[in-house]
Amino acid sequence: MKVNYVDIVISAASKKQYPKDPIPEIALAGRSNVGKSSFINKMIQRKNLARTSSKPGKTQTLNFYIINEEFHFVDVPGYGYAKVSKSERAKWGRMMEEYFAEREQLRATALVVDIRHKPTEDDQMMYDYLKHFELPVMVIATKLDKIKKGQRQKQLKTIIQTLEIEDEDNLIPFSAETGEGKDLAWRTMLQYLNG
Ligand code: GTP
Ligand code: MG
Repeated sequence: MKVNYVDIVISAASKKQYPKDPIPEIALAGRSNVGKSSFINKMIQRKNLARTSSKPGKTQTLNFYIINEEFHFVDVPGYGYAKVSKSERAKWGRMMEEYFAEREQLRATALVVDIRHKPTEDDQMMYDYLKHFELPVMVIATKLDKIKKGQRQKQLKTIIQTLEIEDEDNLIPFSAETGEGKDLAWRTMLQYLNG
């Protein structure tokens, strides 16, 4: 996939700000600081268009990026960060529900998990939540550069078993550092966008 043009369309805090053009979308989901924004940047080869941070909670709104005038990537705030107040958590829940339950042009979600760790209960809940809306899920097992090659299969198996990934979904080992997994992630996304 050749990315010729990318830009941010809007940082949306609520539904009325979402872009109105009916082009297909791929949304991100995953724990705070797991690497959602880094995944987008690597896929579109822009260093920091989707703002990243070593501190959790960087992305706070739904950020819509337009790629080649063809589709949107939607970066979302992460979950599972302990230092978040009850009211902020409720606001996050409403933001997610408003988007995932109603967004018609959403084609698939890339659920980003850390390949080094067993998926958390929050990850399991998120996977089930997306399946409840009958959304295809690509599970992106990121930070692949941080484990030894010999550990890969075992970690991937743990992720499949913990999330109970359904046969029609995809598990893609990925590194935003090295770009490993990028081609497979593009091929998979294009299937959802064109299909
Ligand atoms: P929030 O916006 O807070 O929800 O976080 P996020 O999921 O968007 O995470 P972000 O992309 O900001 O990355 C968090 C940290 O992880 C940053 O310091 C990144 O550089 C690092 N990181 C992300 N992906 C990778 C990866 O594949 N390998 C390595 N080594 N580091 C990564
Ligand atoms: Mg982010």
